[in-house]
Amino acid sequence: MADQYTESPDAAVSQGIPTLRWDEPPEGPVLVLLDQRRLPAEEVELVCTDVPALVDAMRTLAVRGAPALGIAGAYGVALAAARGYDVREAAELLDQARPTAVNLGHGVRRAAAAYHRAAADGATPERAAAVALAEARALHREDAEASARMAEHGLALLDELLPGGGFRILTHCNTGALVSGGAGTALAVAGAAHRKGRLRRLWVDETRPLLQGARLTAYEAARTGMAYTLLADNAAGSLFAAGKVDAVLIGADRIAADGSVANKVGSYPLAVLARYHHVPFIVVAPTTSVDSATPDGAAIEIEQRPGHEVTEITLPRIPEPGQSATASVALAPLGTQAYNPAFDVTPPDLVTAIVTEGGVVSPVTSAGLAELCNRSRSG
Ligand code: MRU
Repeated sequence: MADQYTESPDAAVSQGIPTLRWDEPPEGPVLVLLDQRRLPAEEVELVCTDVPALVDAMRTLAVRGAPALGIAGAYGVALAAARGYDVREAAELLDQARPTAVNLGHGVRRAAAAYHRAAADGATPERAAAVALAEARALHREDAEASARMAEHGLALLDELLPGGGFRILTHCNTGALVSGGAGTALAVAGAAHRKGRLRRLWVDETRPLLQGARLTAYEAARTGMAYTLLADNAAGSLFAAGKVDAVLIGADRIAADGSVANKVGSYPLAVLARYHHVPFIVVAPTTSVDSATPDGAAIEIEQRPGHEVTEITLPRIPEPGQSATASVALAPLGTQAYNPAFDVTPPDLVTAIVTEGGVVSPVTSAGLAELCNRSRSG
């Protein structure tokens, strides 16, 4: 199959961001990722031919963000099945790639269950692999549909909370097309406001240490023509104090049964600031990010990442022969210890509303959340 993205980047750009796609070249099936580690400097594809390569891509954030991890995990199972690897072993490896985003395990289990069901019903390995792929594709499509619904519900909520429009929205991390089969979660709402001429300003937290805001959200905002301004994370307080934030919109990696929200580290301080300044703090996430088996925030496993992500900065470079394509620059003296949790937890009482594809929960209560999830999953 022709590699449209590599052959014609401009055409692909106009069709949206190719975050991940399944391909079947003559050498065998592959999962193709837009390598998010190289953005915004370069739009380069990463071709994963096996599960260890995909797990590495997940751990190093070539593919990232809760919904995209779920979709990639499901395709990873399909890849293992199609290439004749042990599906149980592959599913375990994928499931353990990153611990916090609940969507990952959800996607992996869904494709693996479809595969094992087909195999138990007597399907050939090829047929069972095709069933796993169909399940991954279905999840991919459903996520795109969920994005569109979240954008609608989110925009309606902003209209209700902030009549008059002209929203100035602060966001953290990256929650757009790069994390999704569709337009994303929180950034999809900002995008919908932008298309209606209602987005006055998107304030983009740079999101240290890996700069998902500066590298990825600014990249998406620029492509879609949003009025955006980048800020260092520690500038957010002064922005609230100046009265320049109308709402905070973030995504979620996992929402516990009590409504506690694990999201990119730095989300919780924004919730505290928002409460102090009487600004709505809105979480936008599909119901696949709600984990009824995790009772509360304390039970959410928070990924701890290597200290060098804080003590060094890694930049792309044009390599000399034999050199790697990146160079690391020290930000702290050699041997400095770093505290580097990937996520933090915002308690439900600081969250004004949770927007899902099935509607909005506000105030955030366990009963309200459970009711909405049951309704969405049965509908
Ligand atoms: O470490 P990352 O880049 O995978 O973290 C991503 C986030 O924290 C996003 O905000 C989250 O996945 C929600 S996006 C729907």
